[in-house]
Amino acid sequence: MHLIKAVLLLTTVIEIGSFQKHYIEKSLSPVRSYTAGHEQETAVAQLLQRVIGERSQDVVVSILPAASEFATLSYAGKTLKITGSDAVSVAFAFNHYLKYYCRKQISWAGDQISDIPNPLPPVPAEGVTIKAGVKYRYYQNVCTVSYSSVWWNWTRWEREIDWMALNGINLPLAFTGQEAIWERVYKKLGCSDEDIKKHFAGPAFLAWGRMGNLHGWGG
Ligand SMILES: *[C@@H]1O[C@H](CO)[C@@H](O)[C@H](O)[C@H]1NC(C)=O
Repeated sequence: MHLIKAVLLLTTVIEIGSFQKHYIEKSLSPVRSYTAGHEQETAVAQLLQRVIGERSQDVVVSILPAASEFATLSYAGKTLKITGSDAVSVAFAFNHYLKYYCRKQISWAGDQISDIPNPLPPVPAEGVTIKAGVKYRYYQNVCTVSYSSVWWNWTRWEREIDWMALNGINLPLAFTGQEAIWERVYKKLGCSDEDIKKHFAGPAFLAWGRMGNLHGWGG
């Protein structure tokens, strides 16, 4: 009897799981890069320039749009070539190369990036293909925008976005502008500017205002 109950429970859990998976896949299916291949190529080349400076001259990147993500590393004449379906896959493959061939690291806590071997270390002659284990790589939670990044300037954001690409993130949470939408809605409902201003939290507390566990701001 216990076994039957356990099997029934397990079946239910699996069914809920597959329903959720179906729902999530359906709602995320439009999530992909809409940026032209050549623009992605420029973006990832500029990322390399920011990350490894003039040594980026030893790396050639190219984007070959494809139905499923991939990136390959190959090496010829002291030049590393990275070909991938999109900029994030190329950046992720570059980070793989940096870690496992150059023994260098770019992290939240700091970088160990000086003295990259010259010439760059070769990869096996048949090339190396890097593929992400999962389709969507999500990053951030609802609070970080307030308690970590609220006062960041562009320099700091650019580094974070570079870090995301290097780690293959393709689905970062960005609910920037949430209040602008709410303001429109509240106005339609007849709220005054003064009411709305009183209701929204200050910049460092927007996350909690958005989650509905705080309104207003004492200053
Ligand atoms: C951005 O912020 C960092 C850290 O506060 C600071 O060192 C840097 O000078 C700032 N950059 C610009 C362009 O304001």
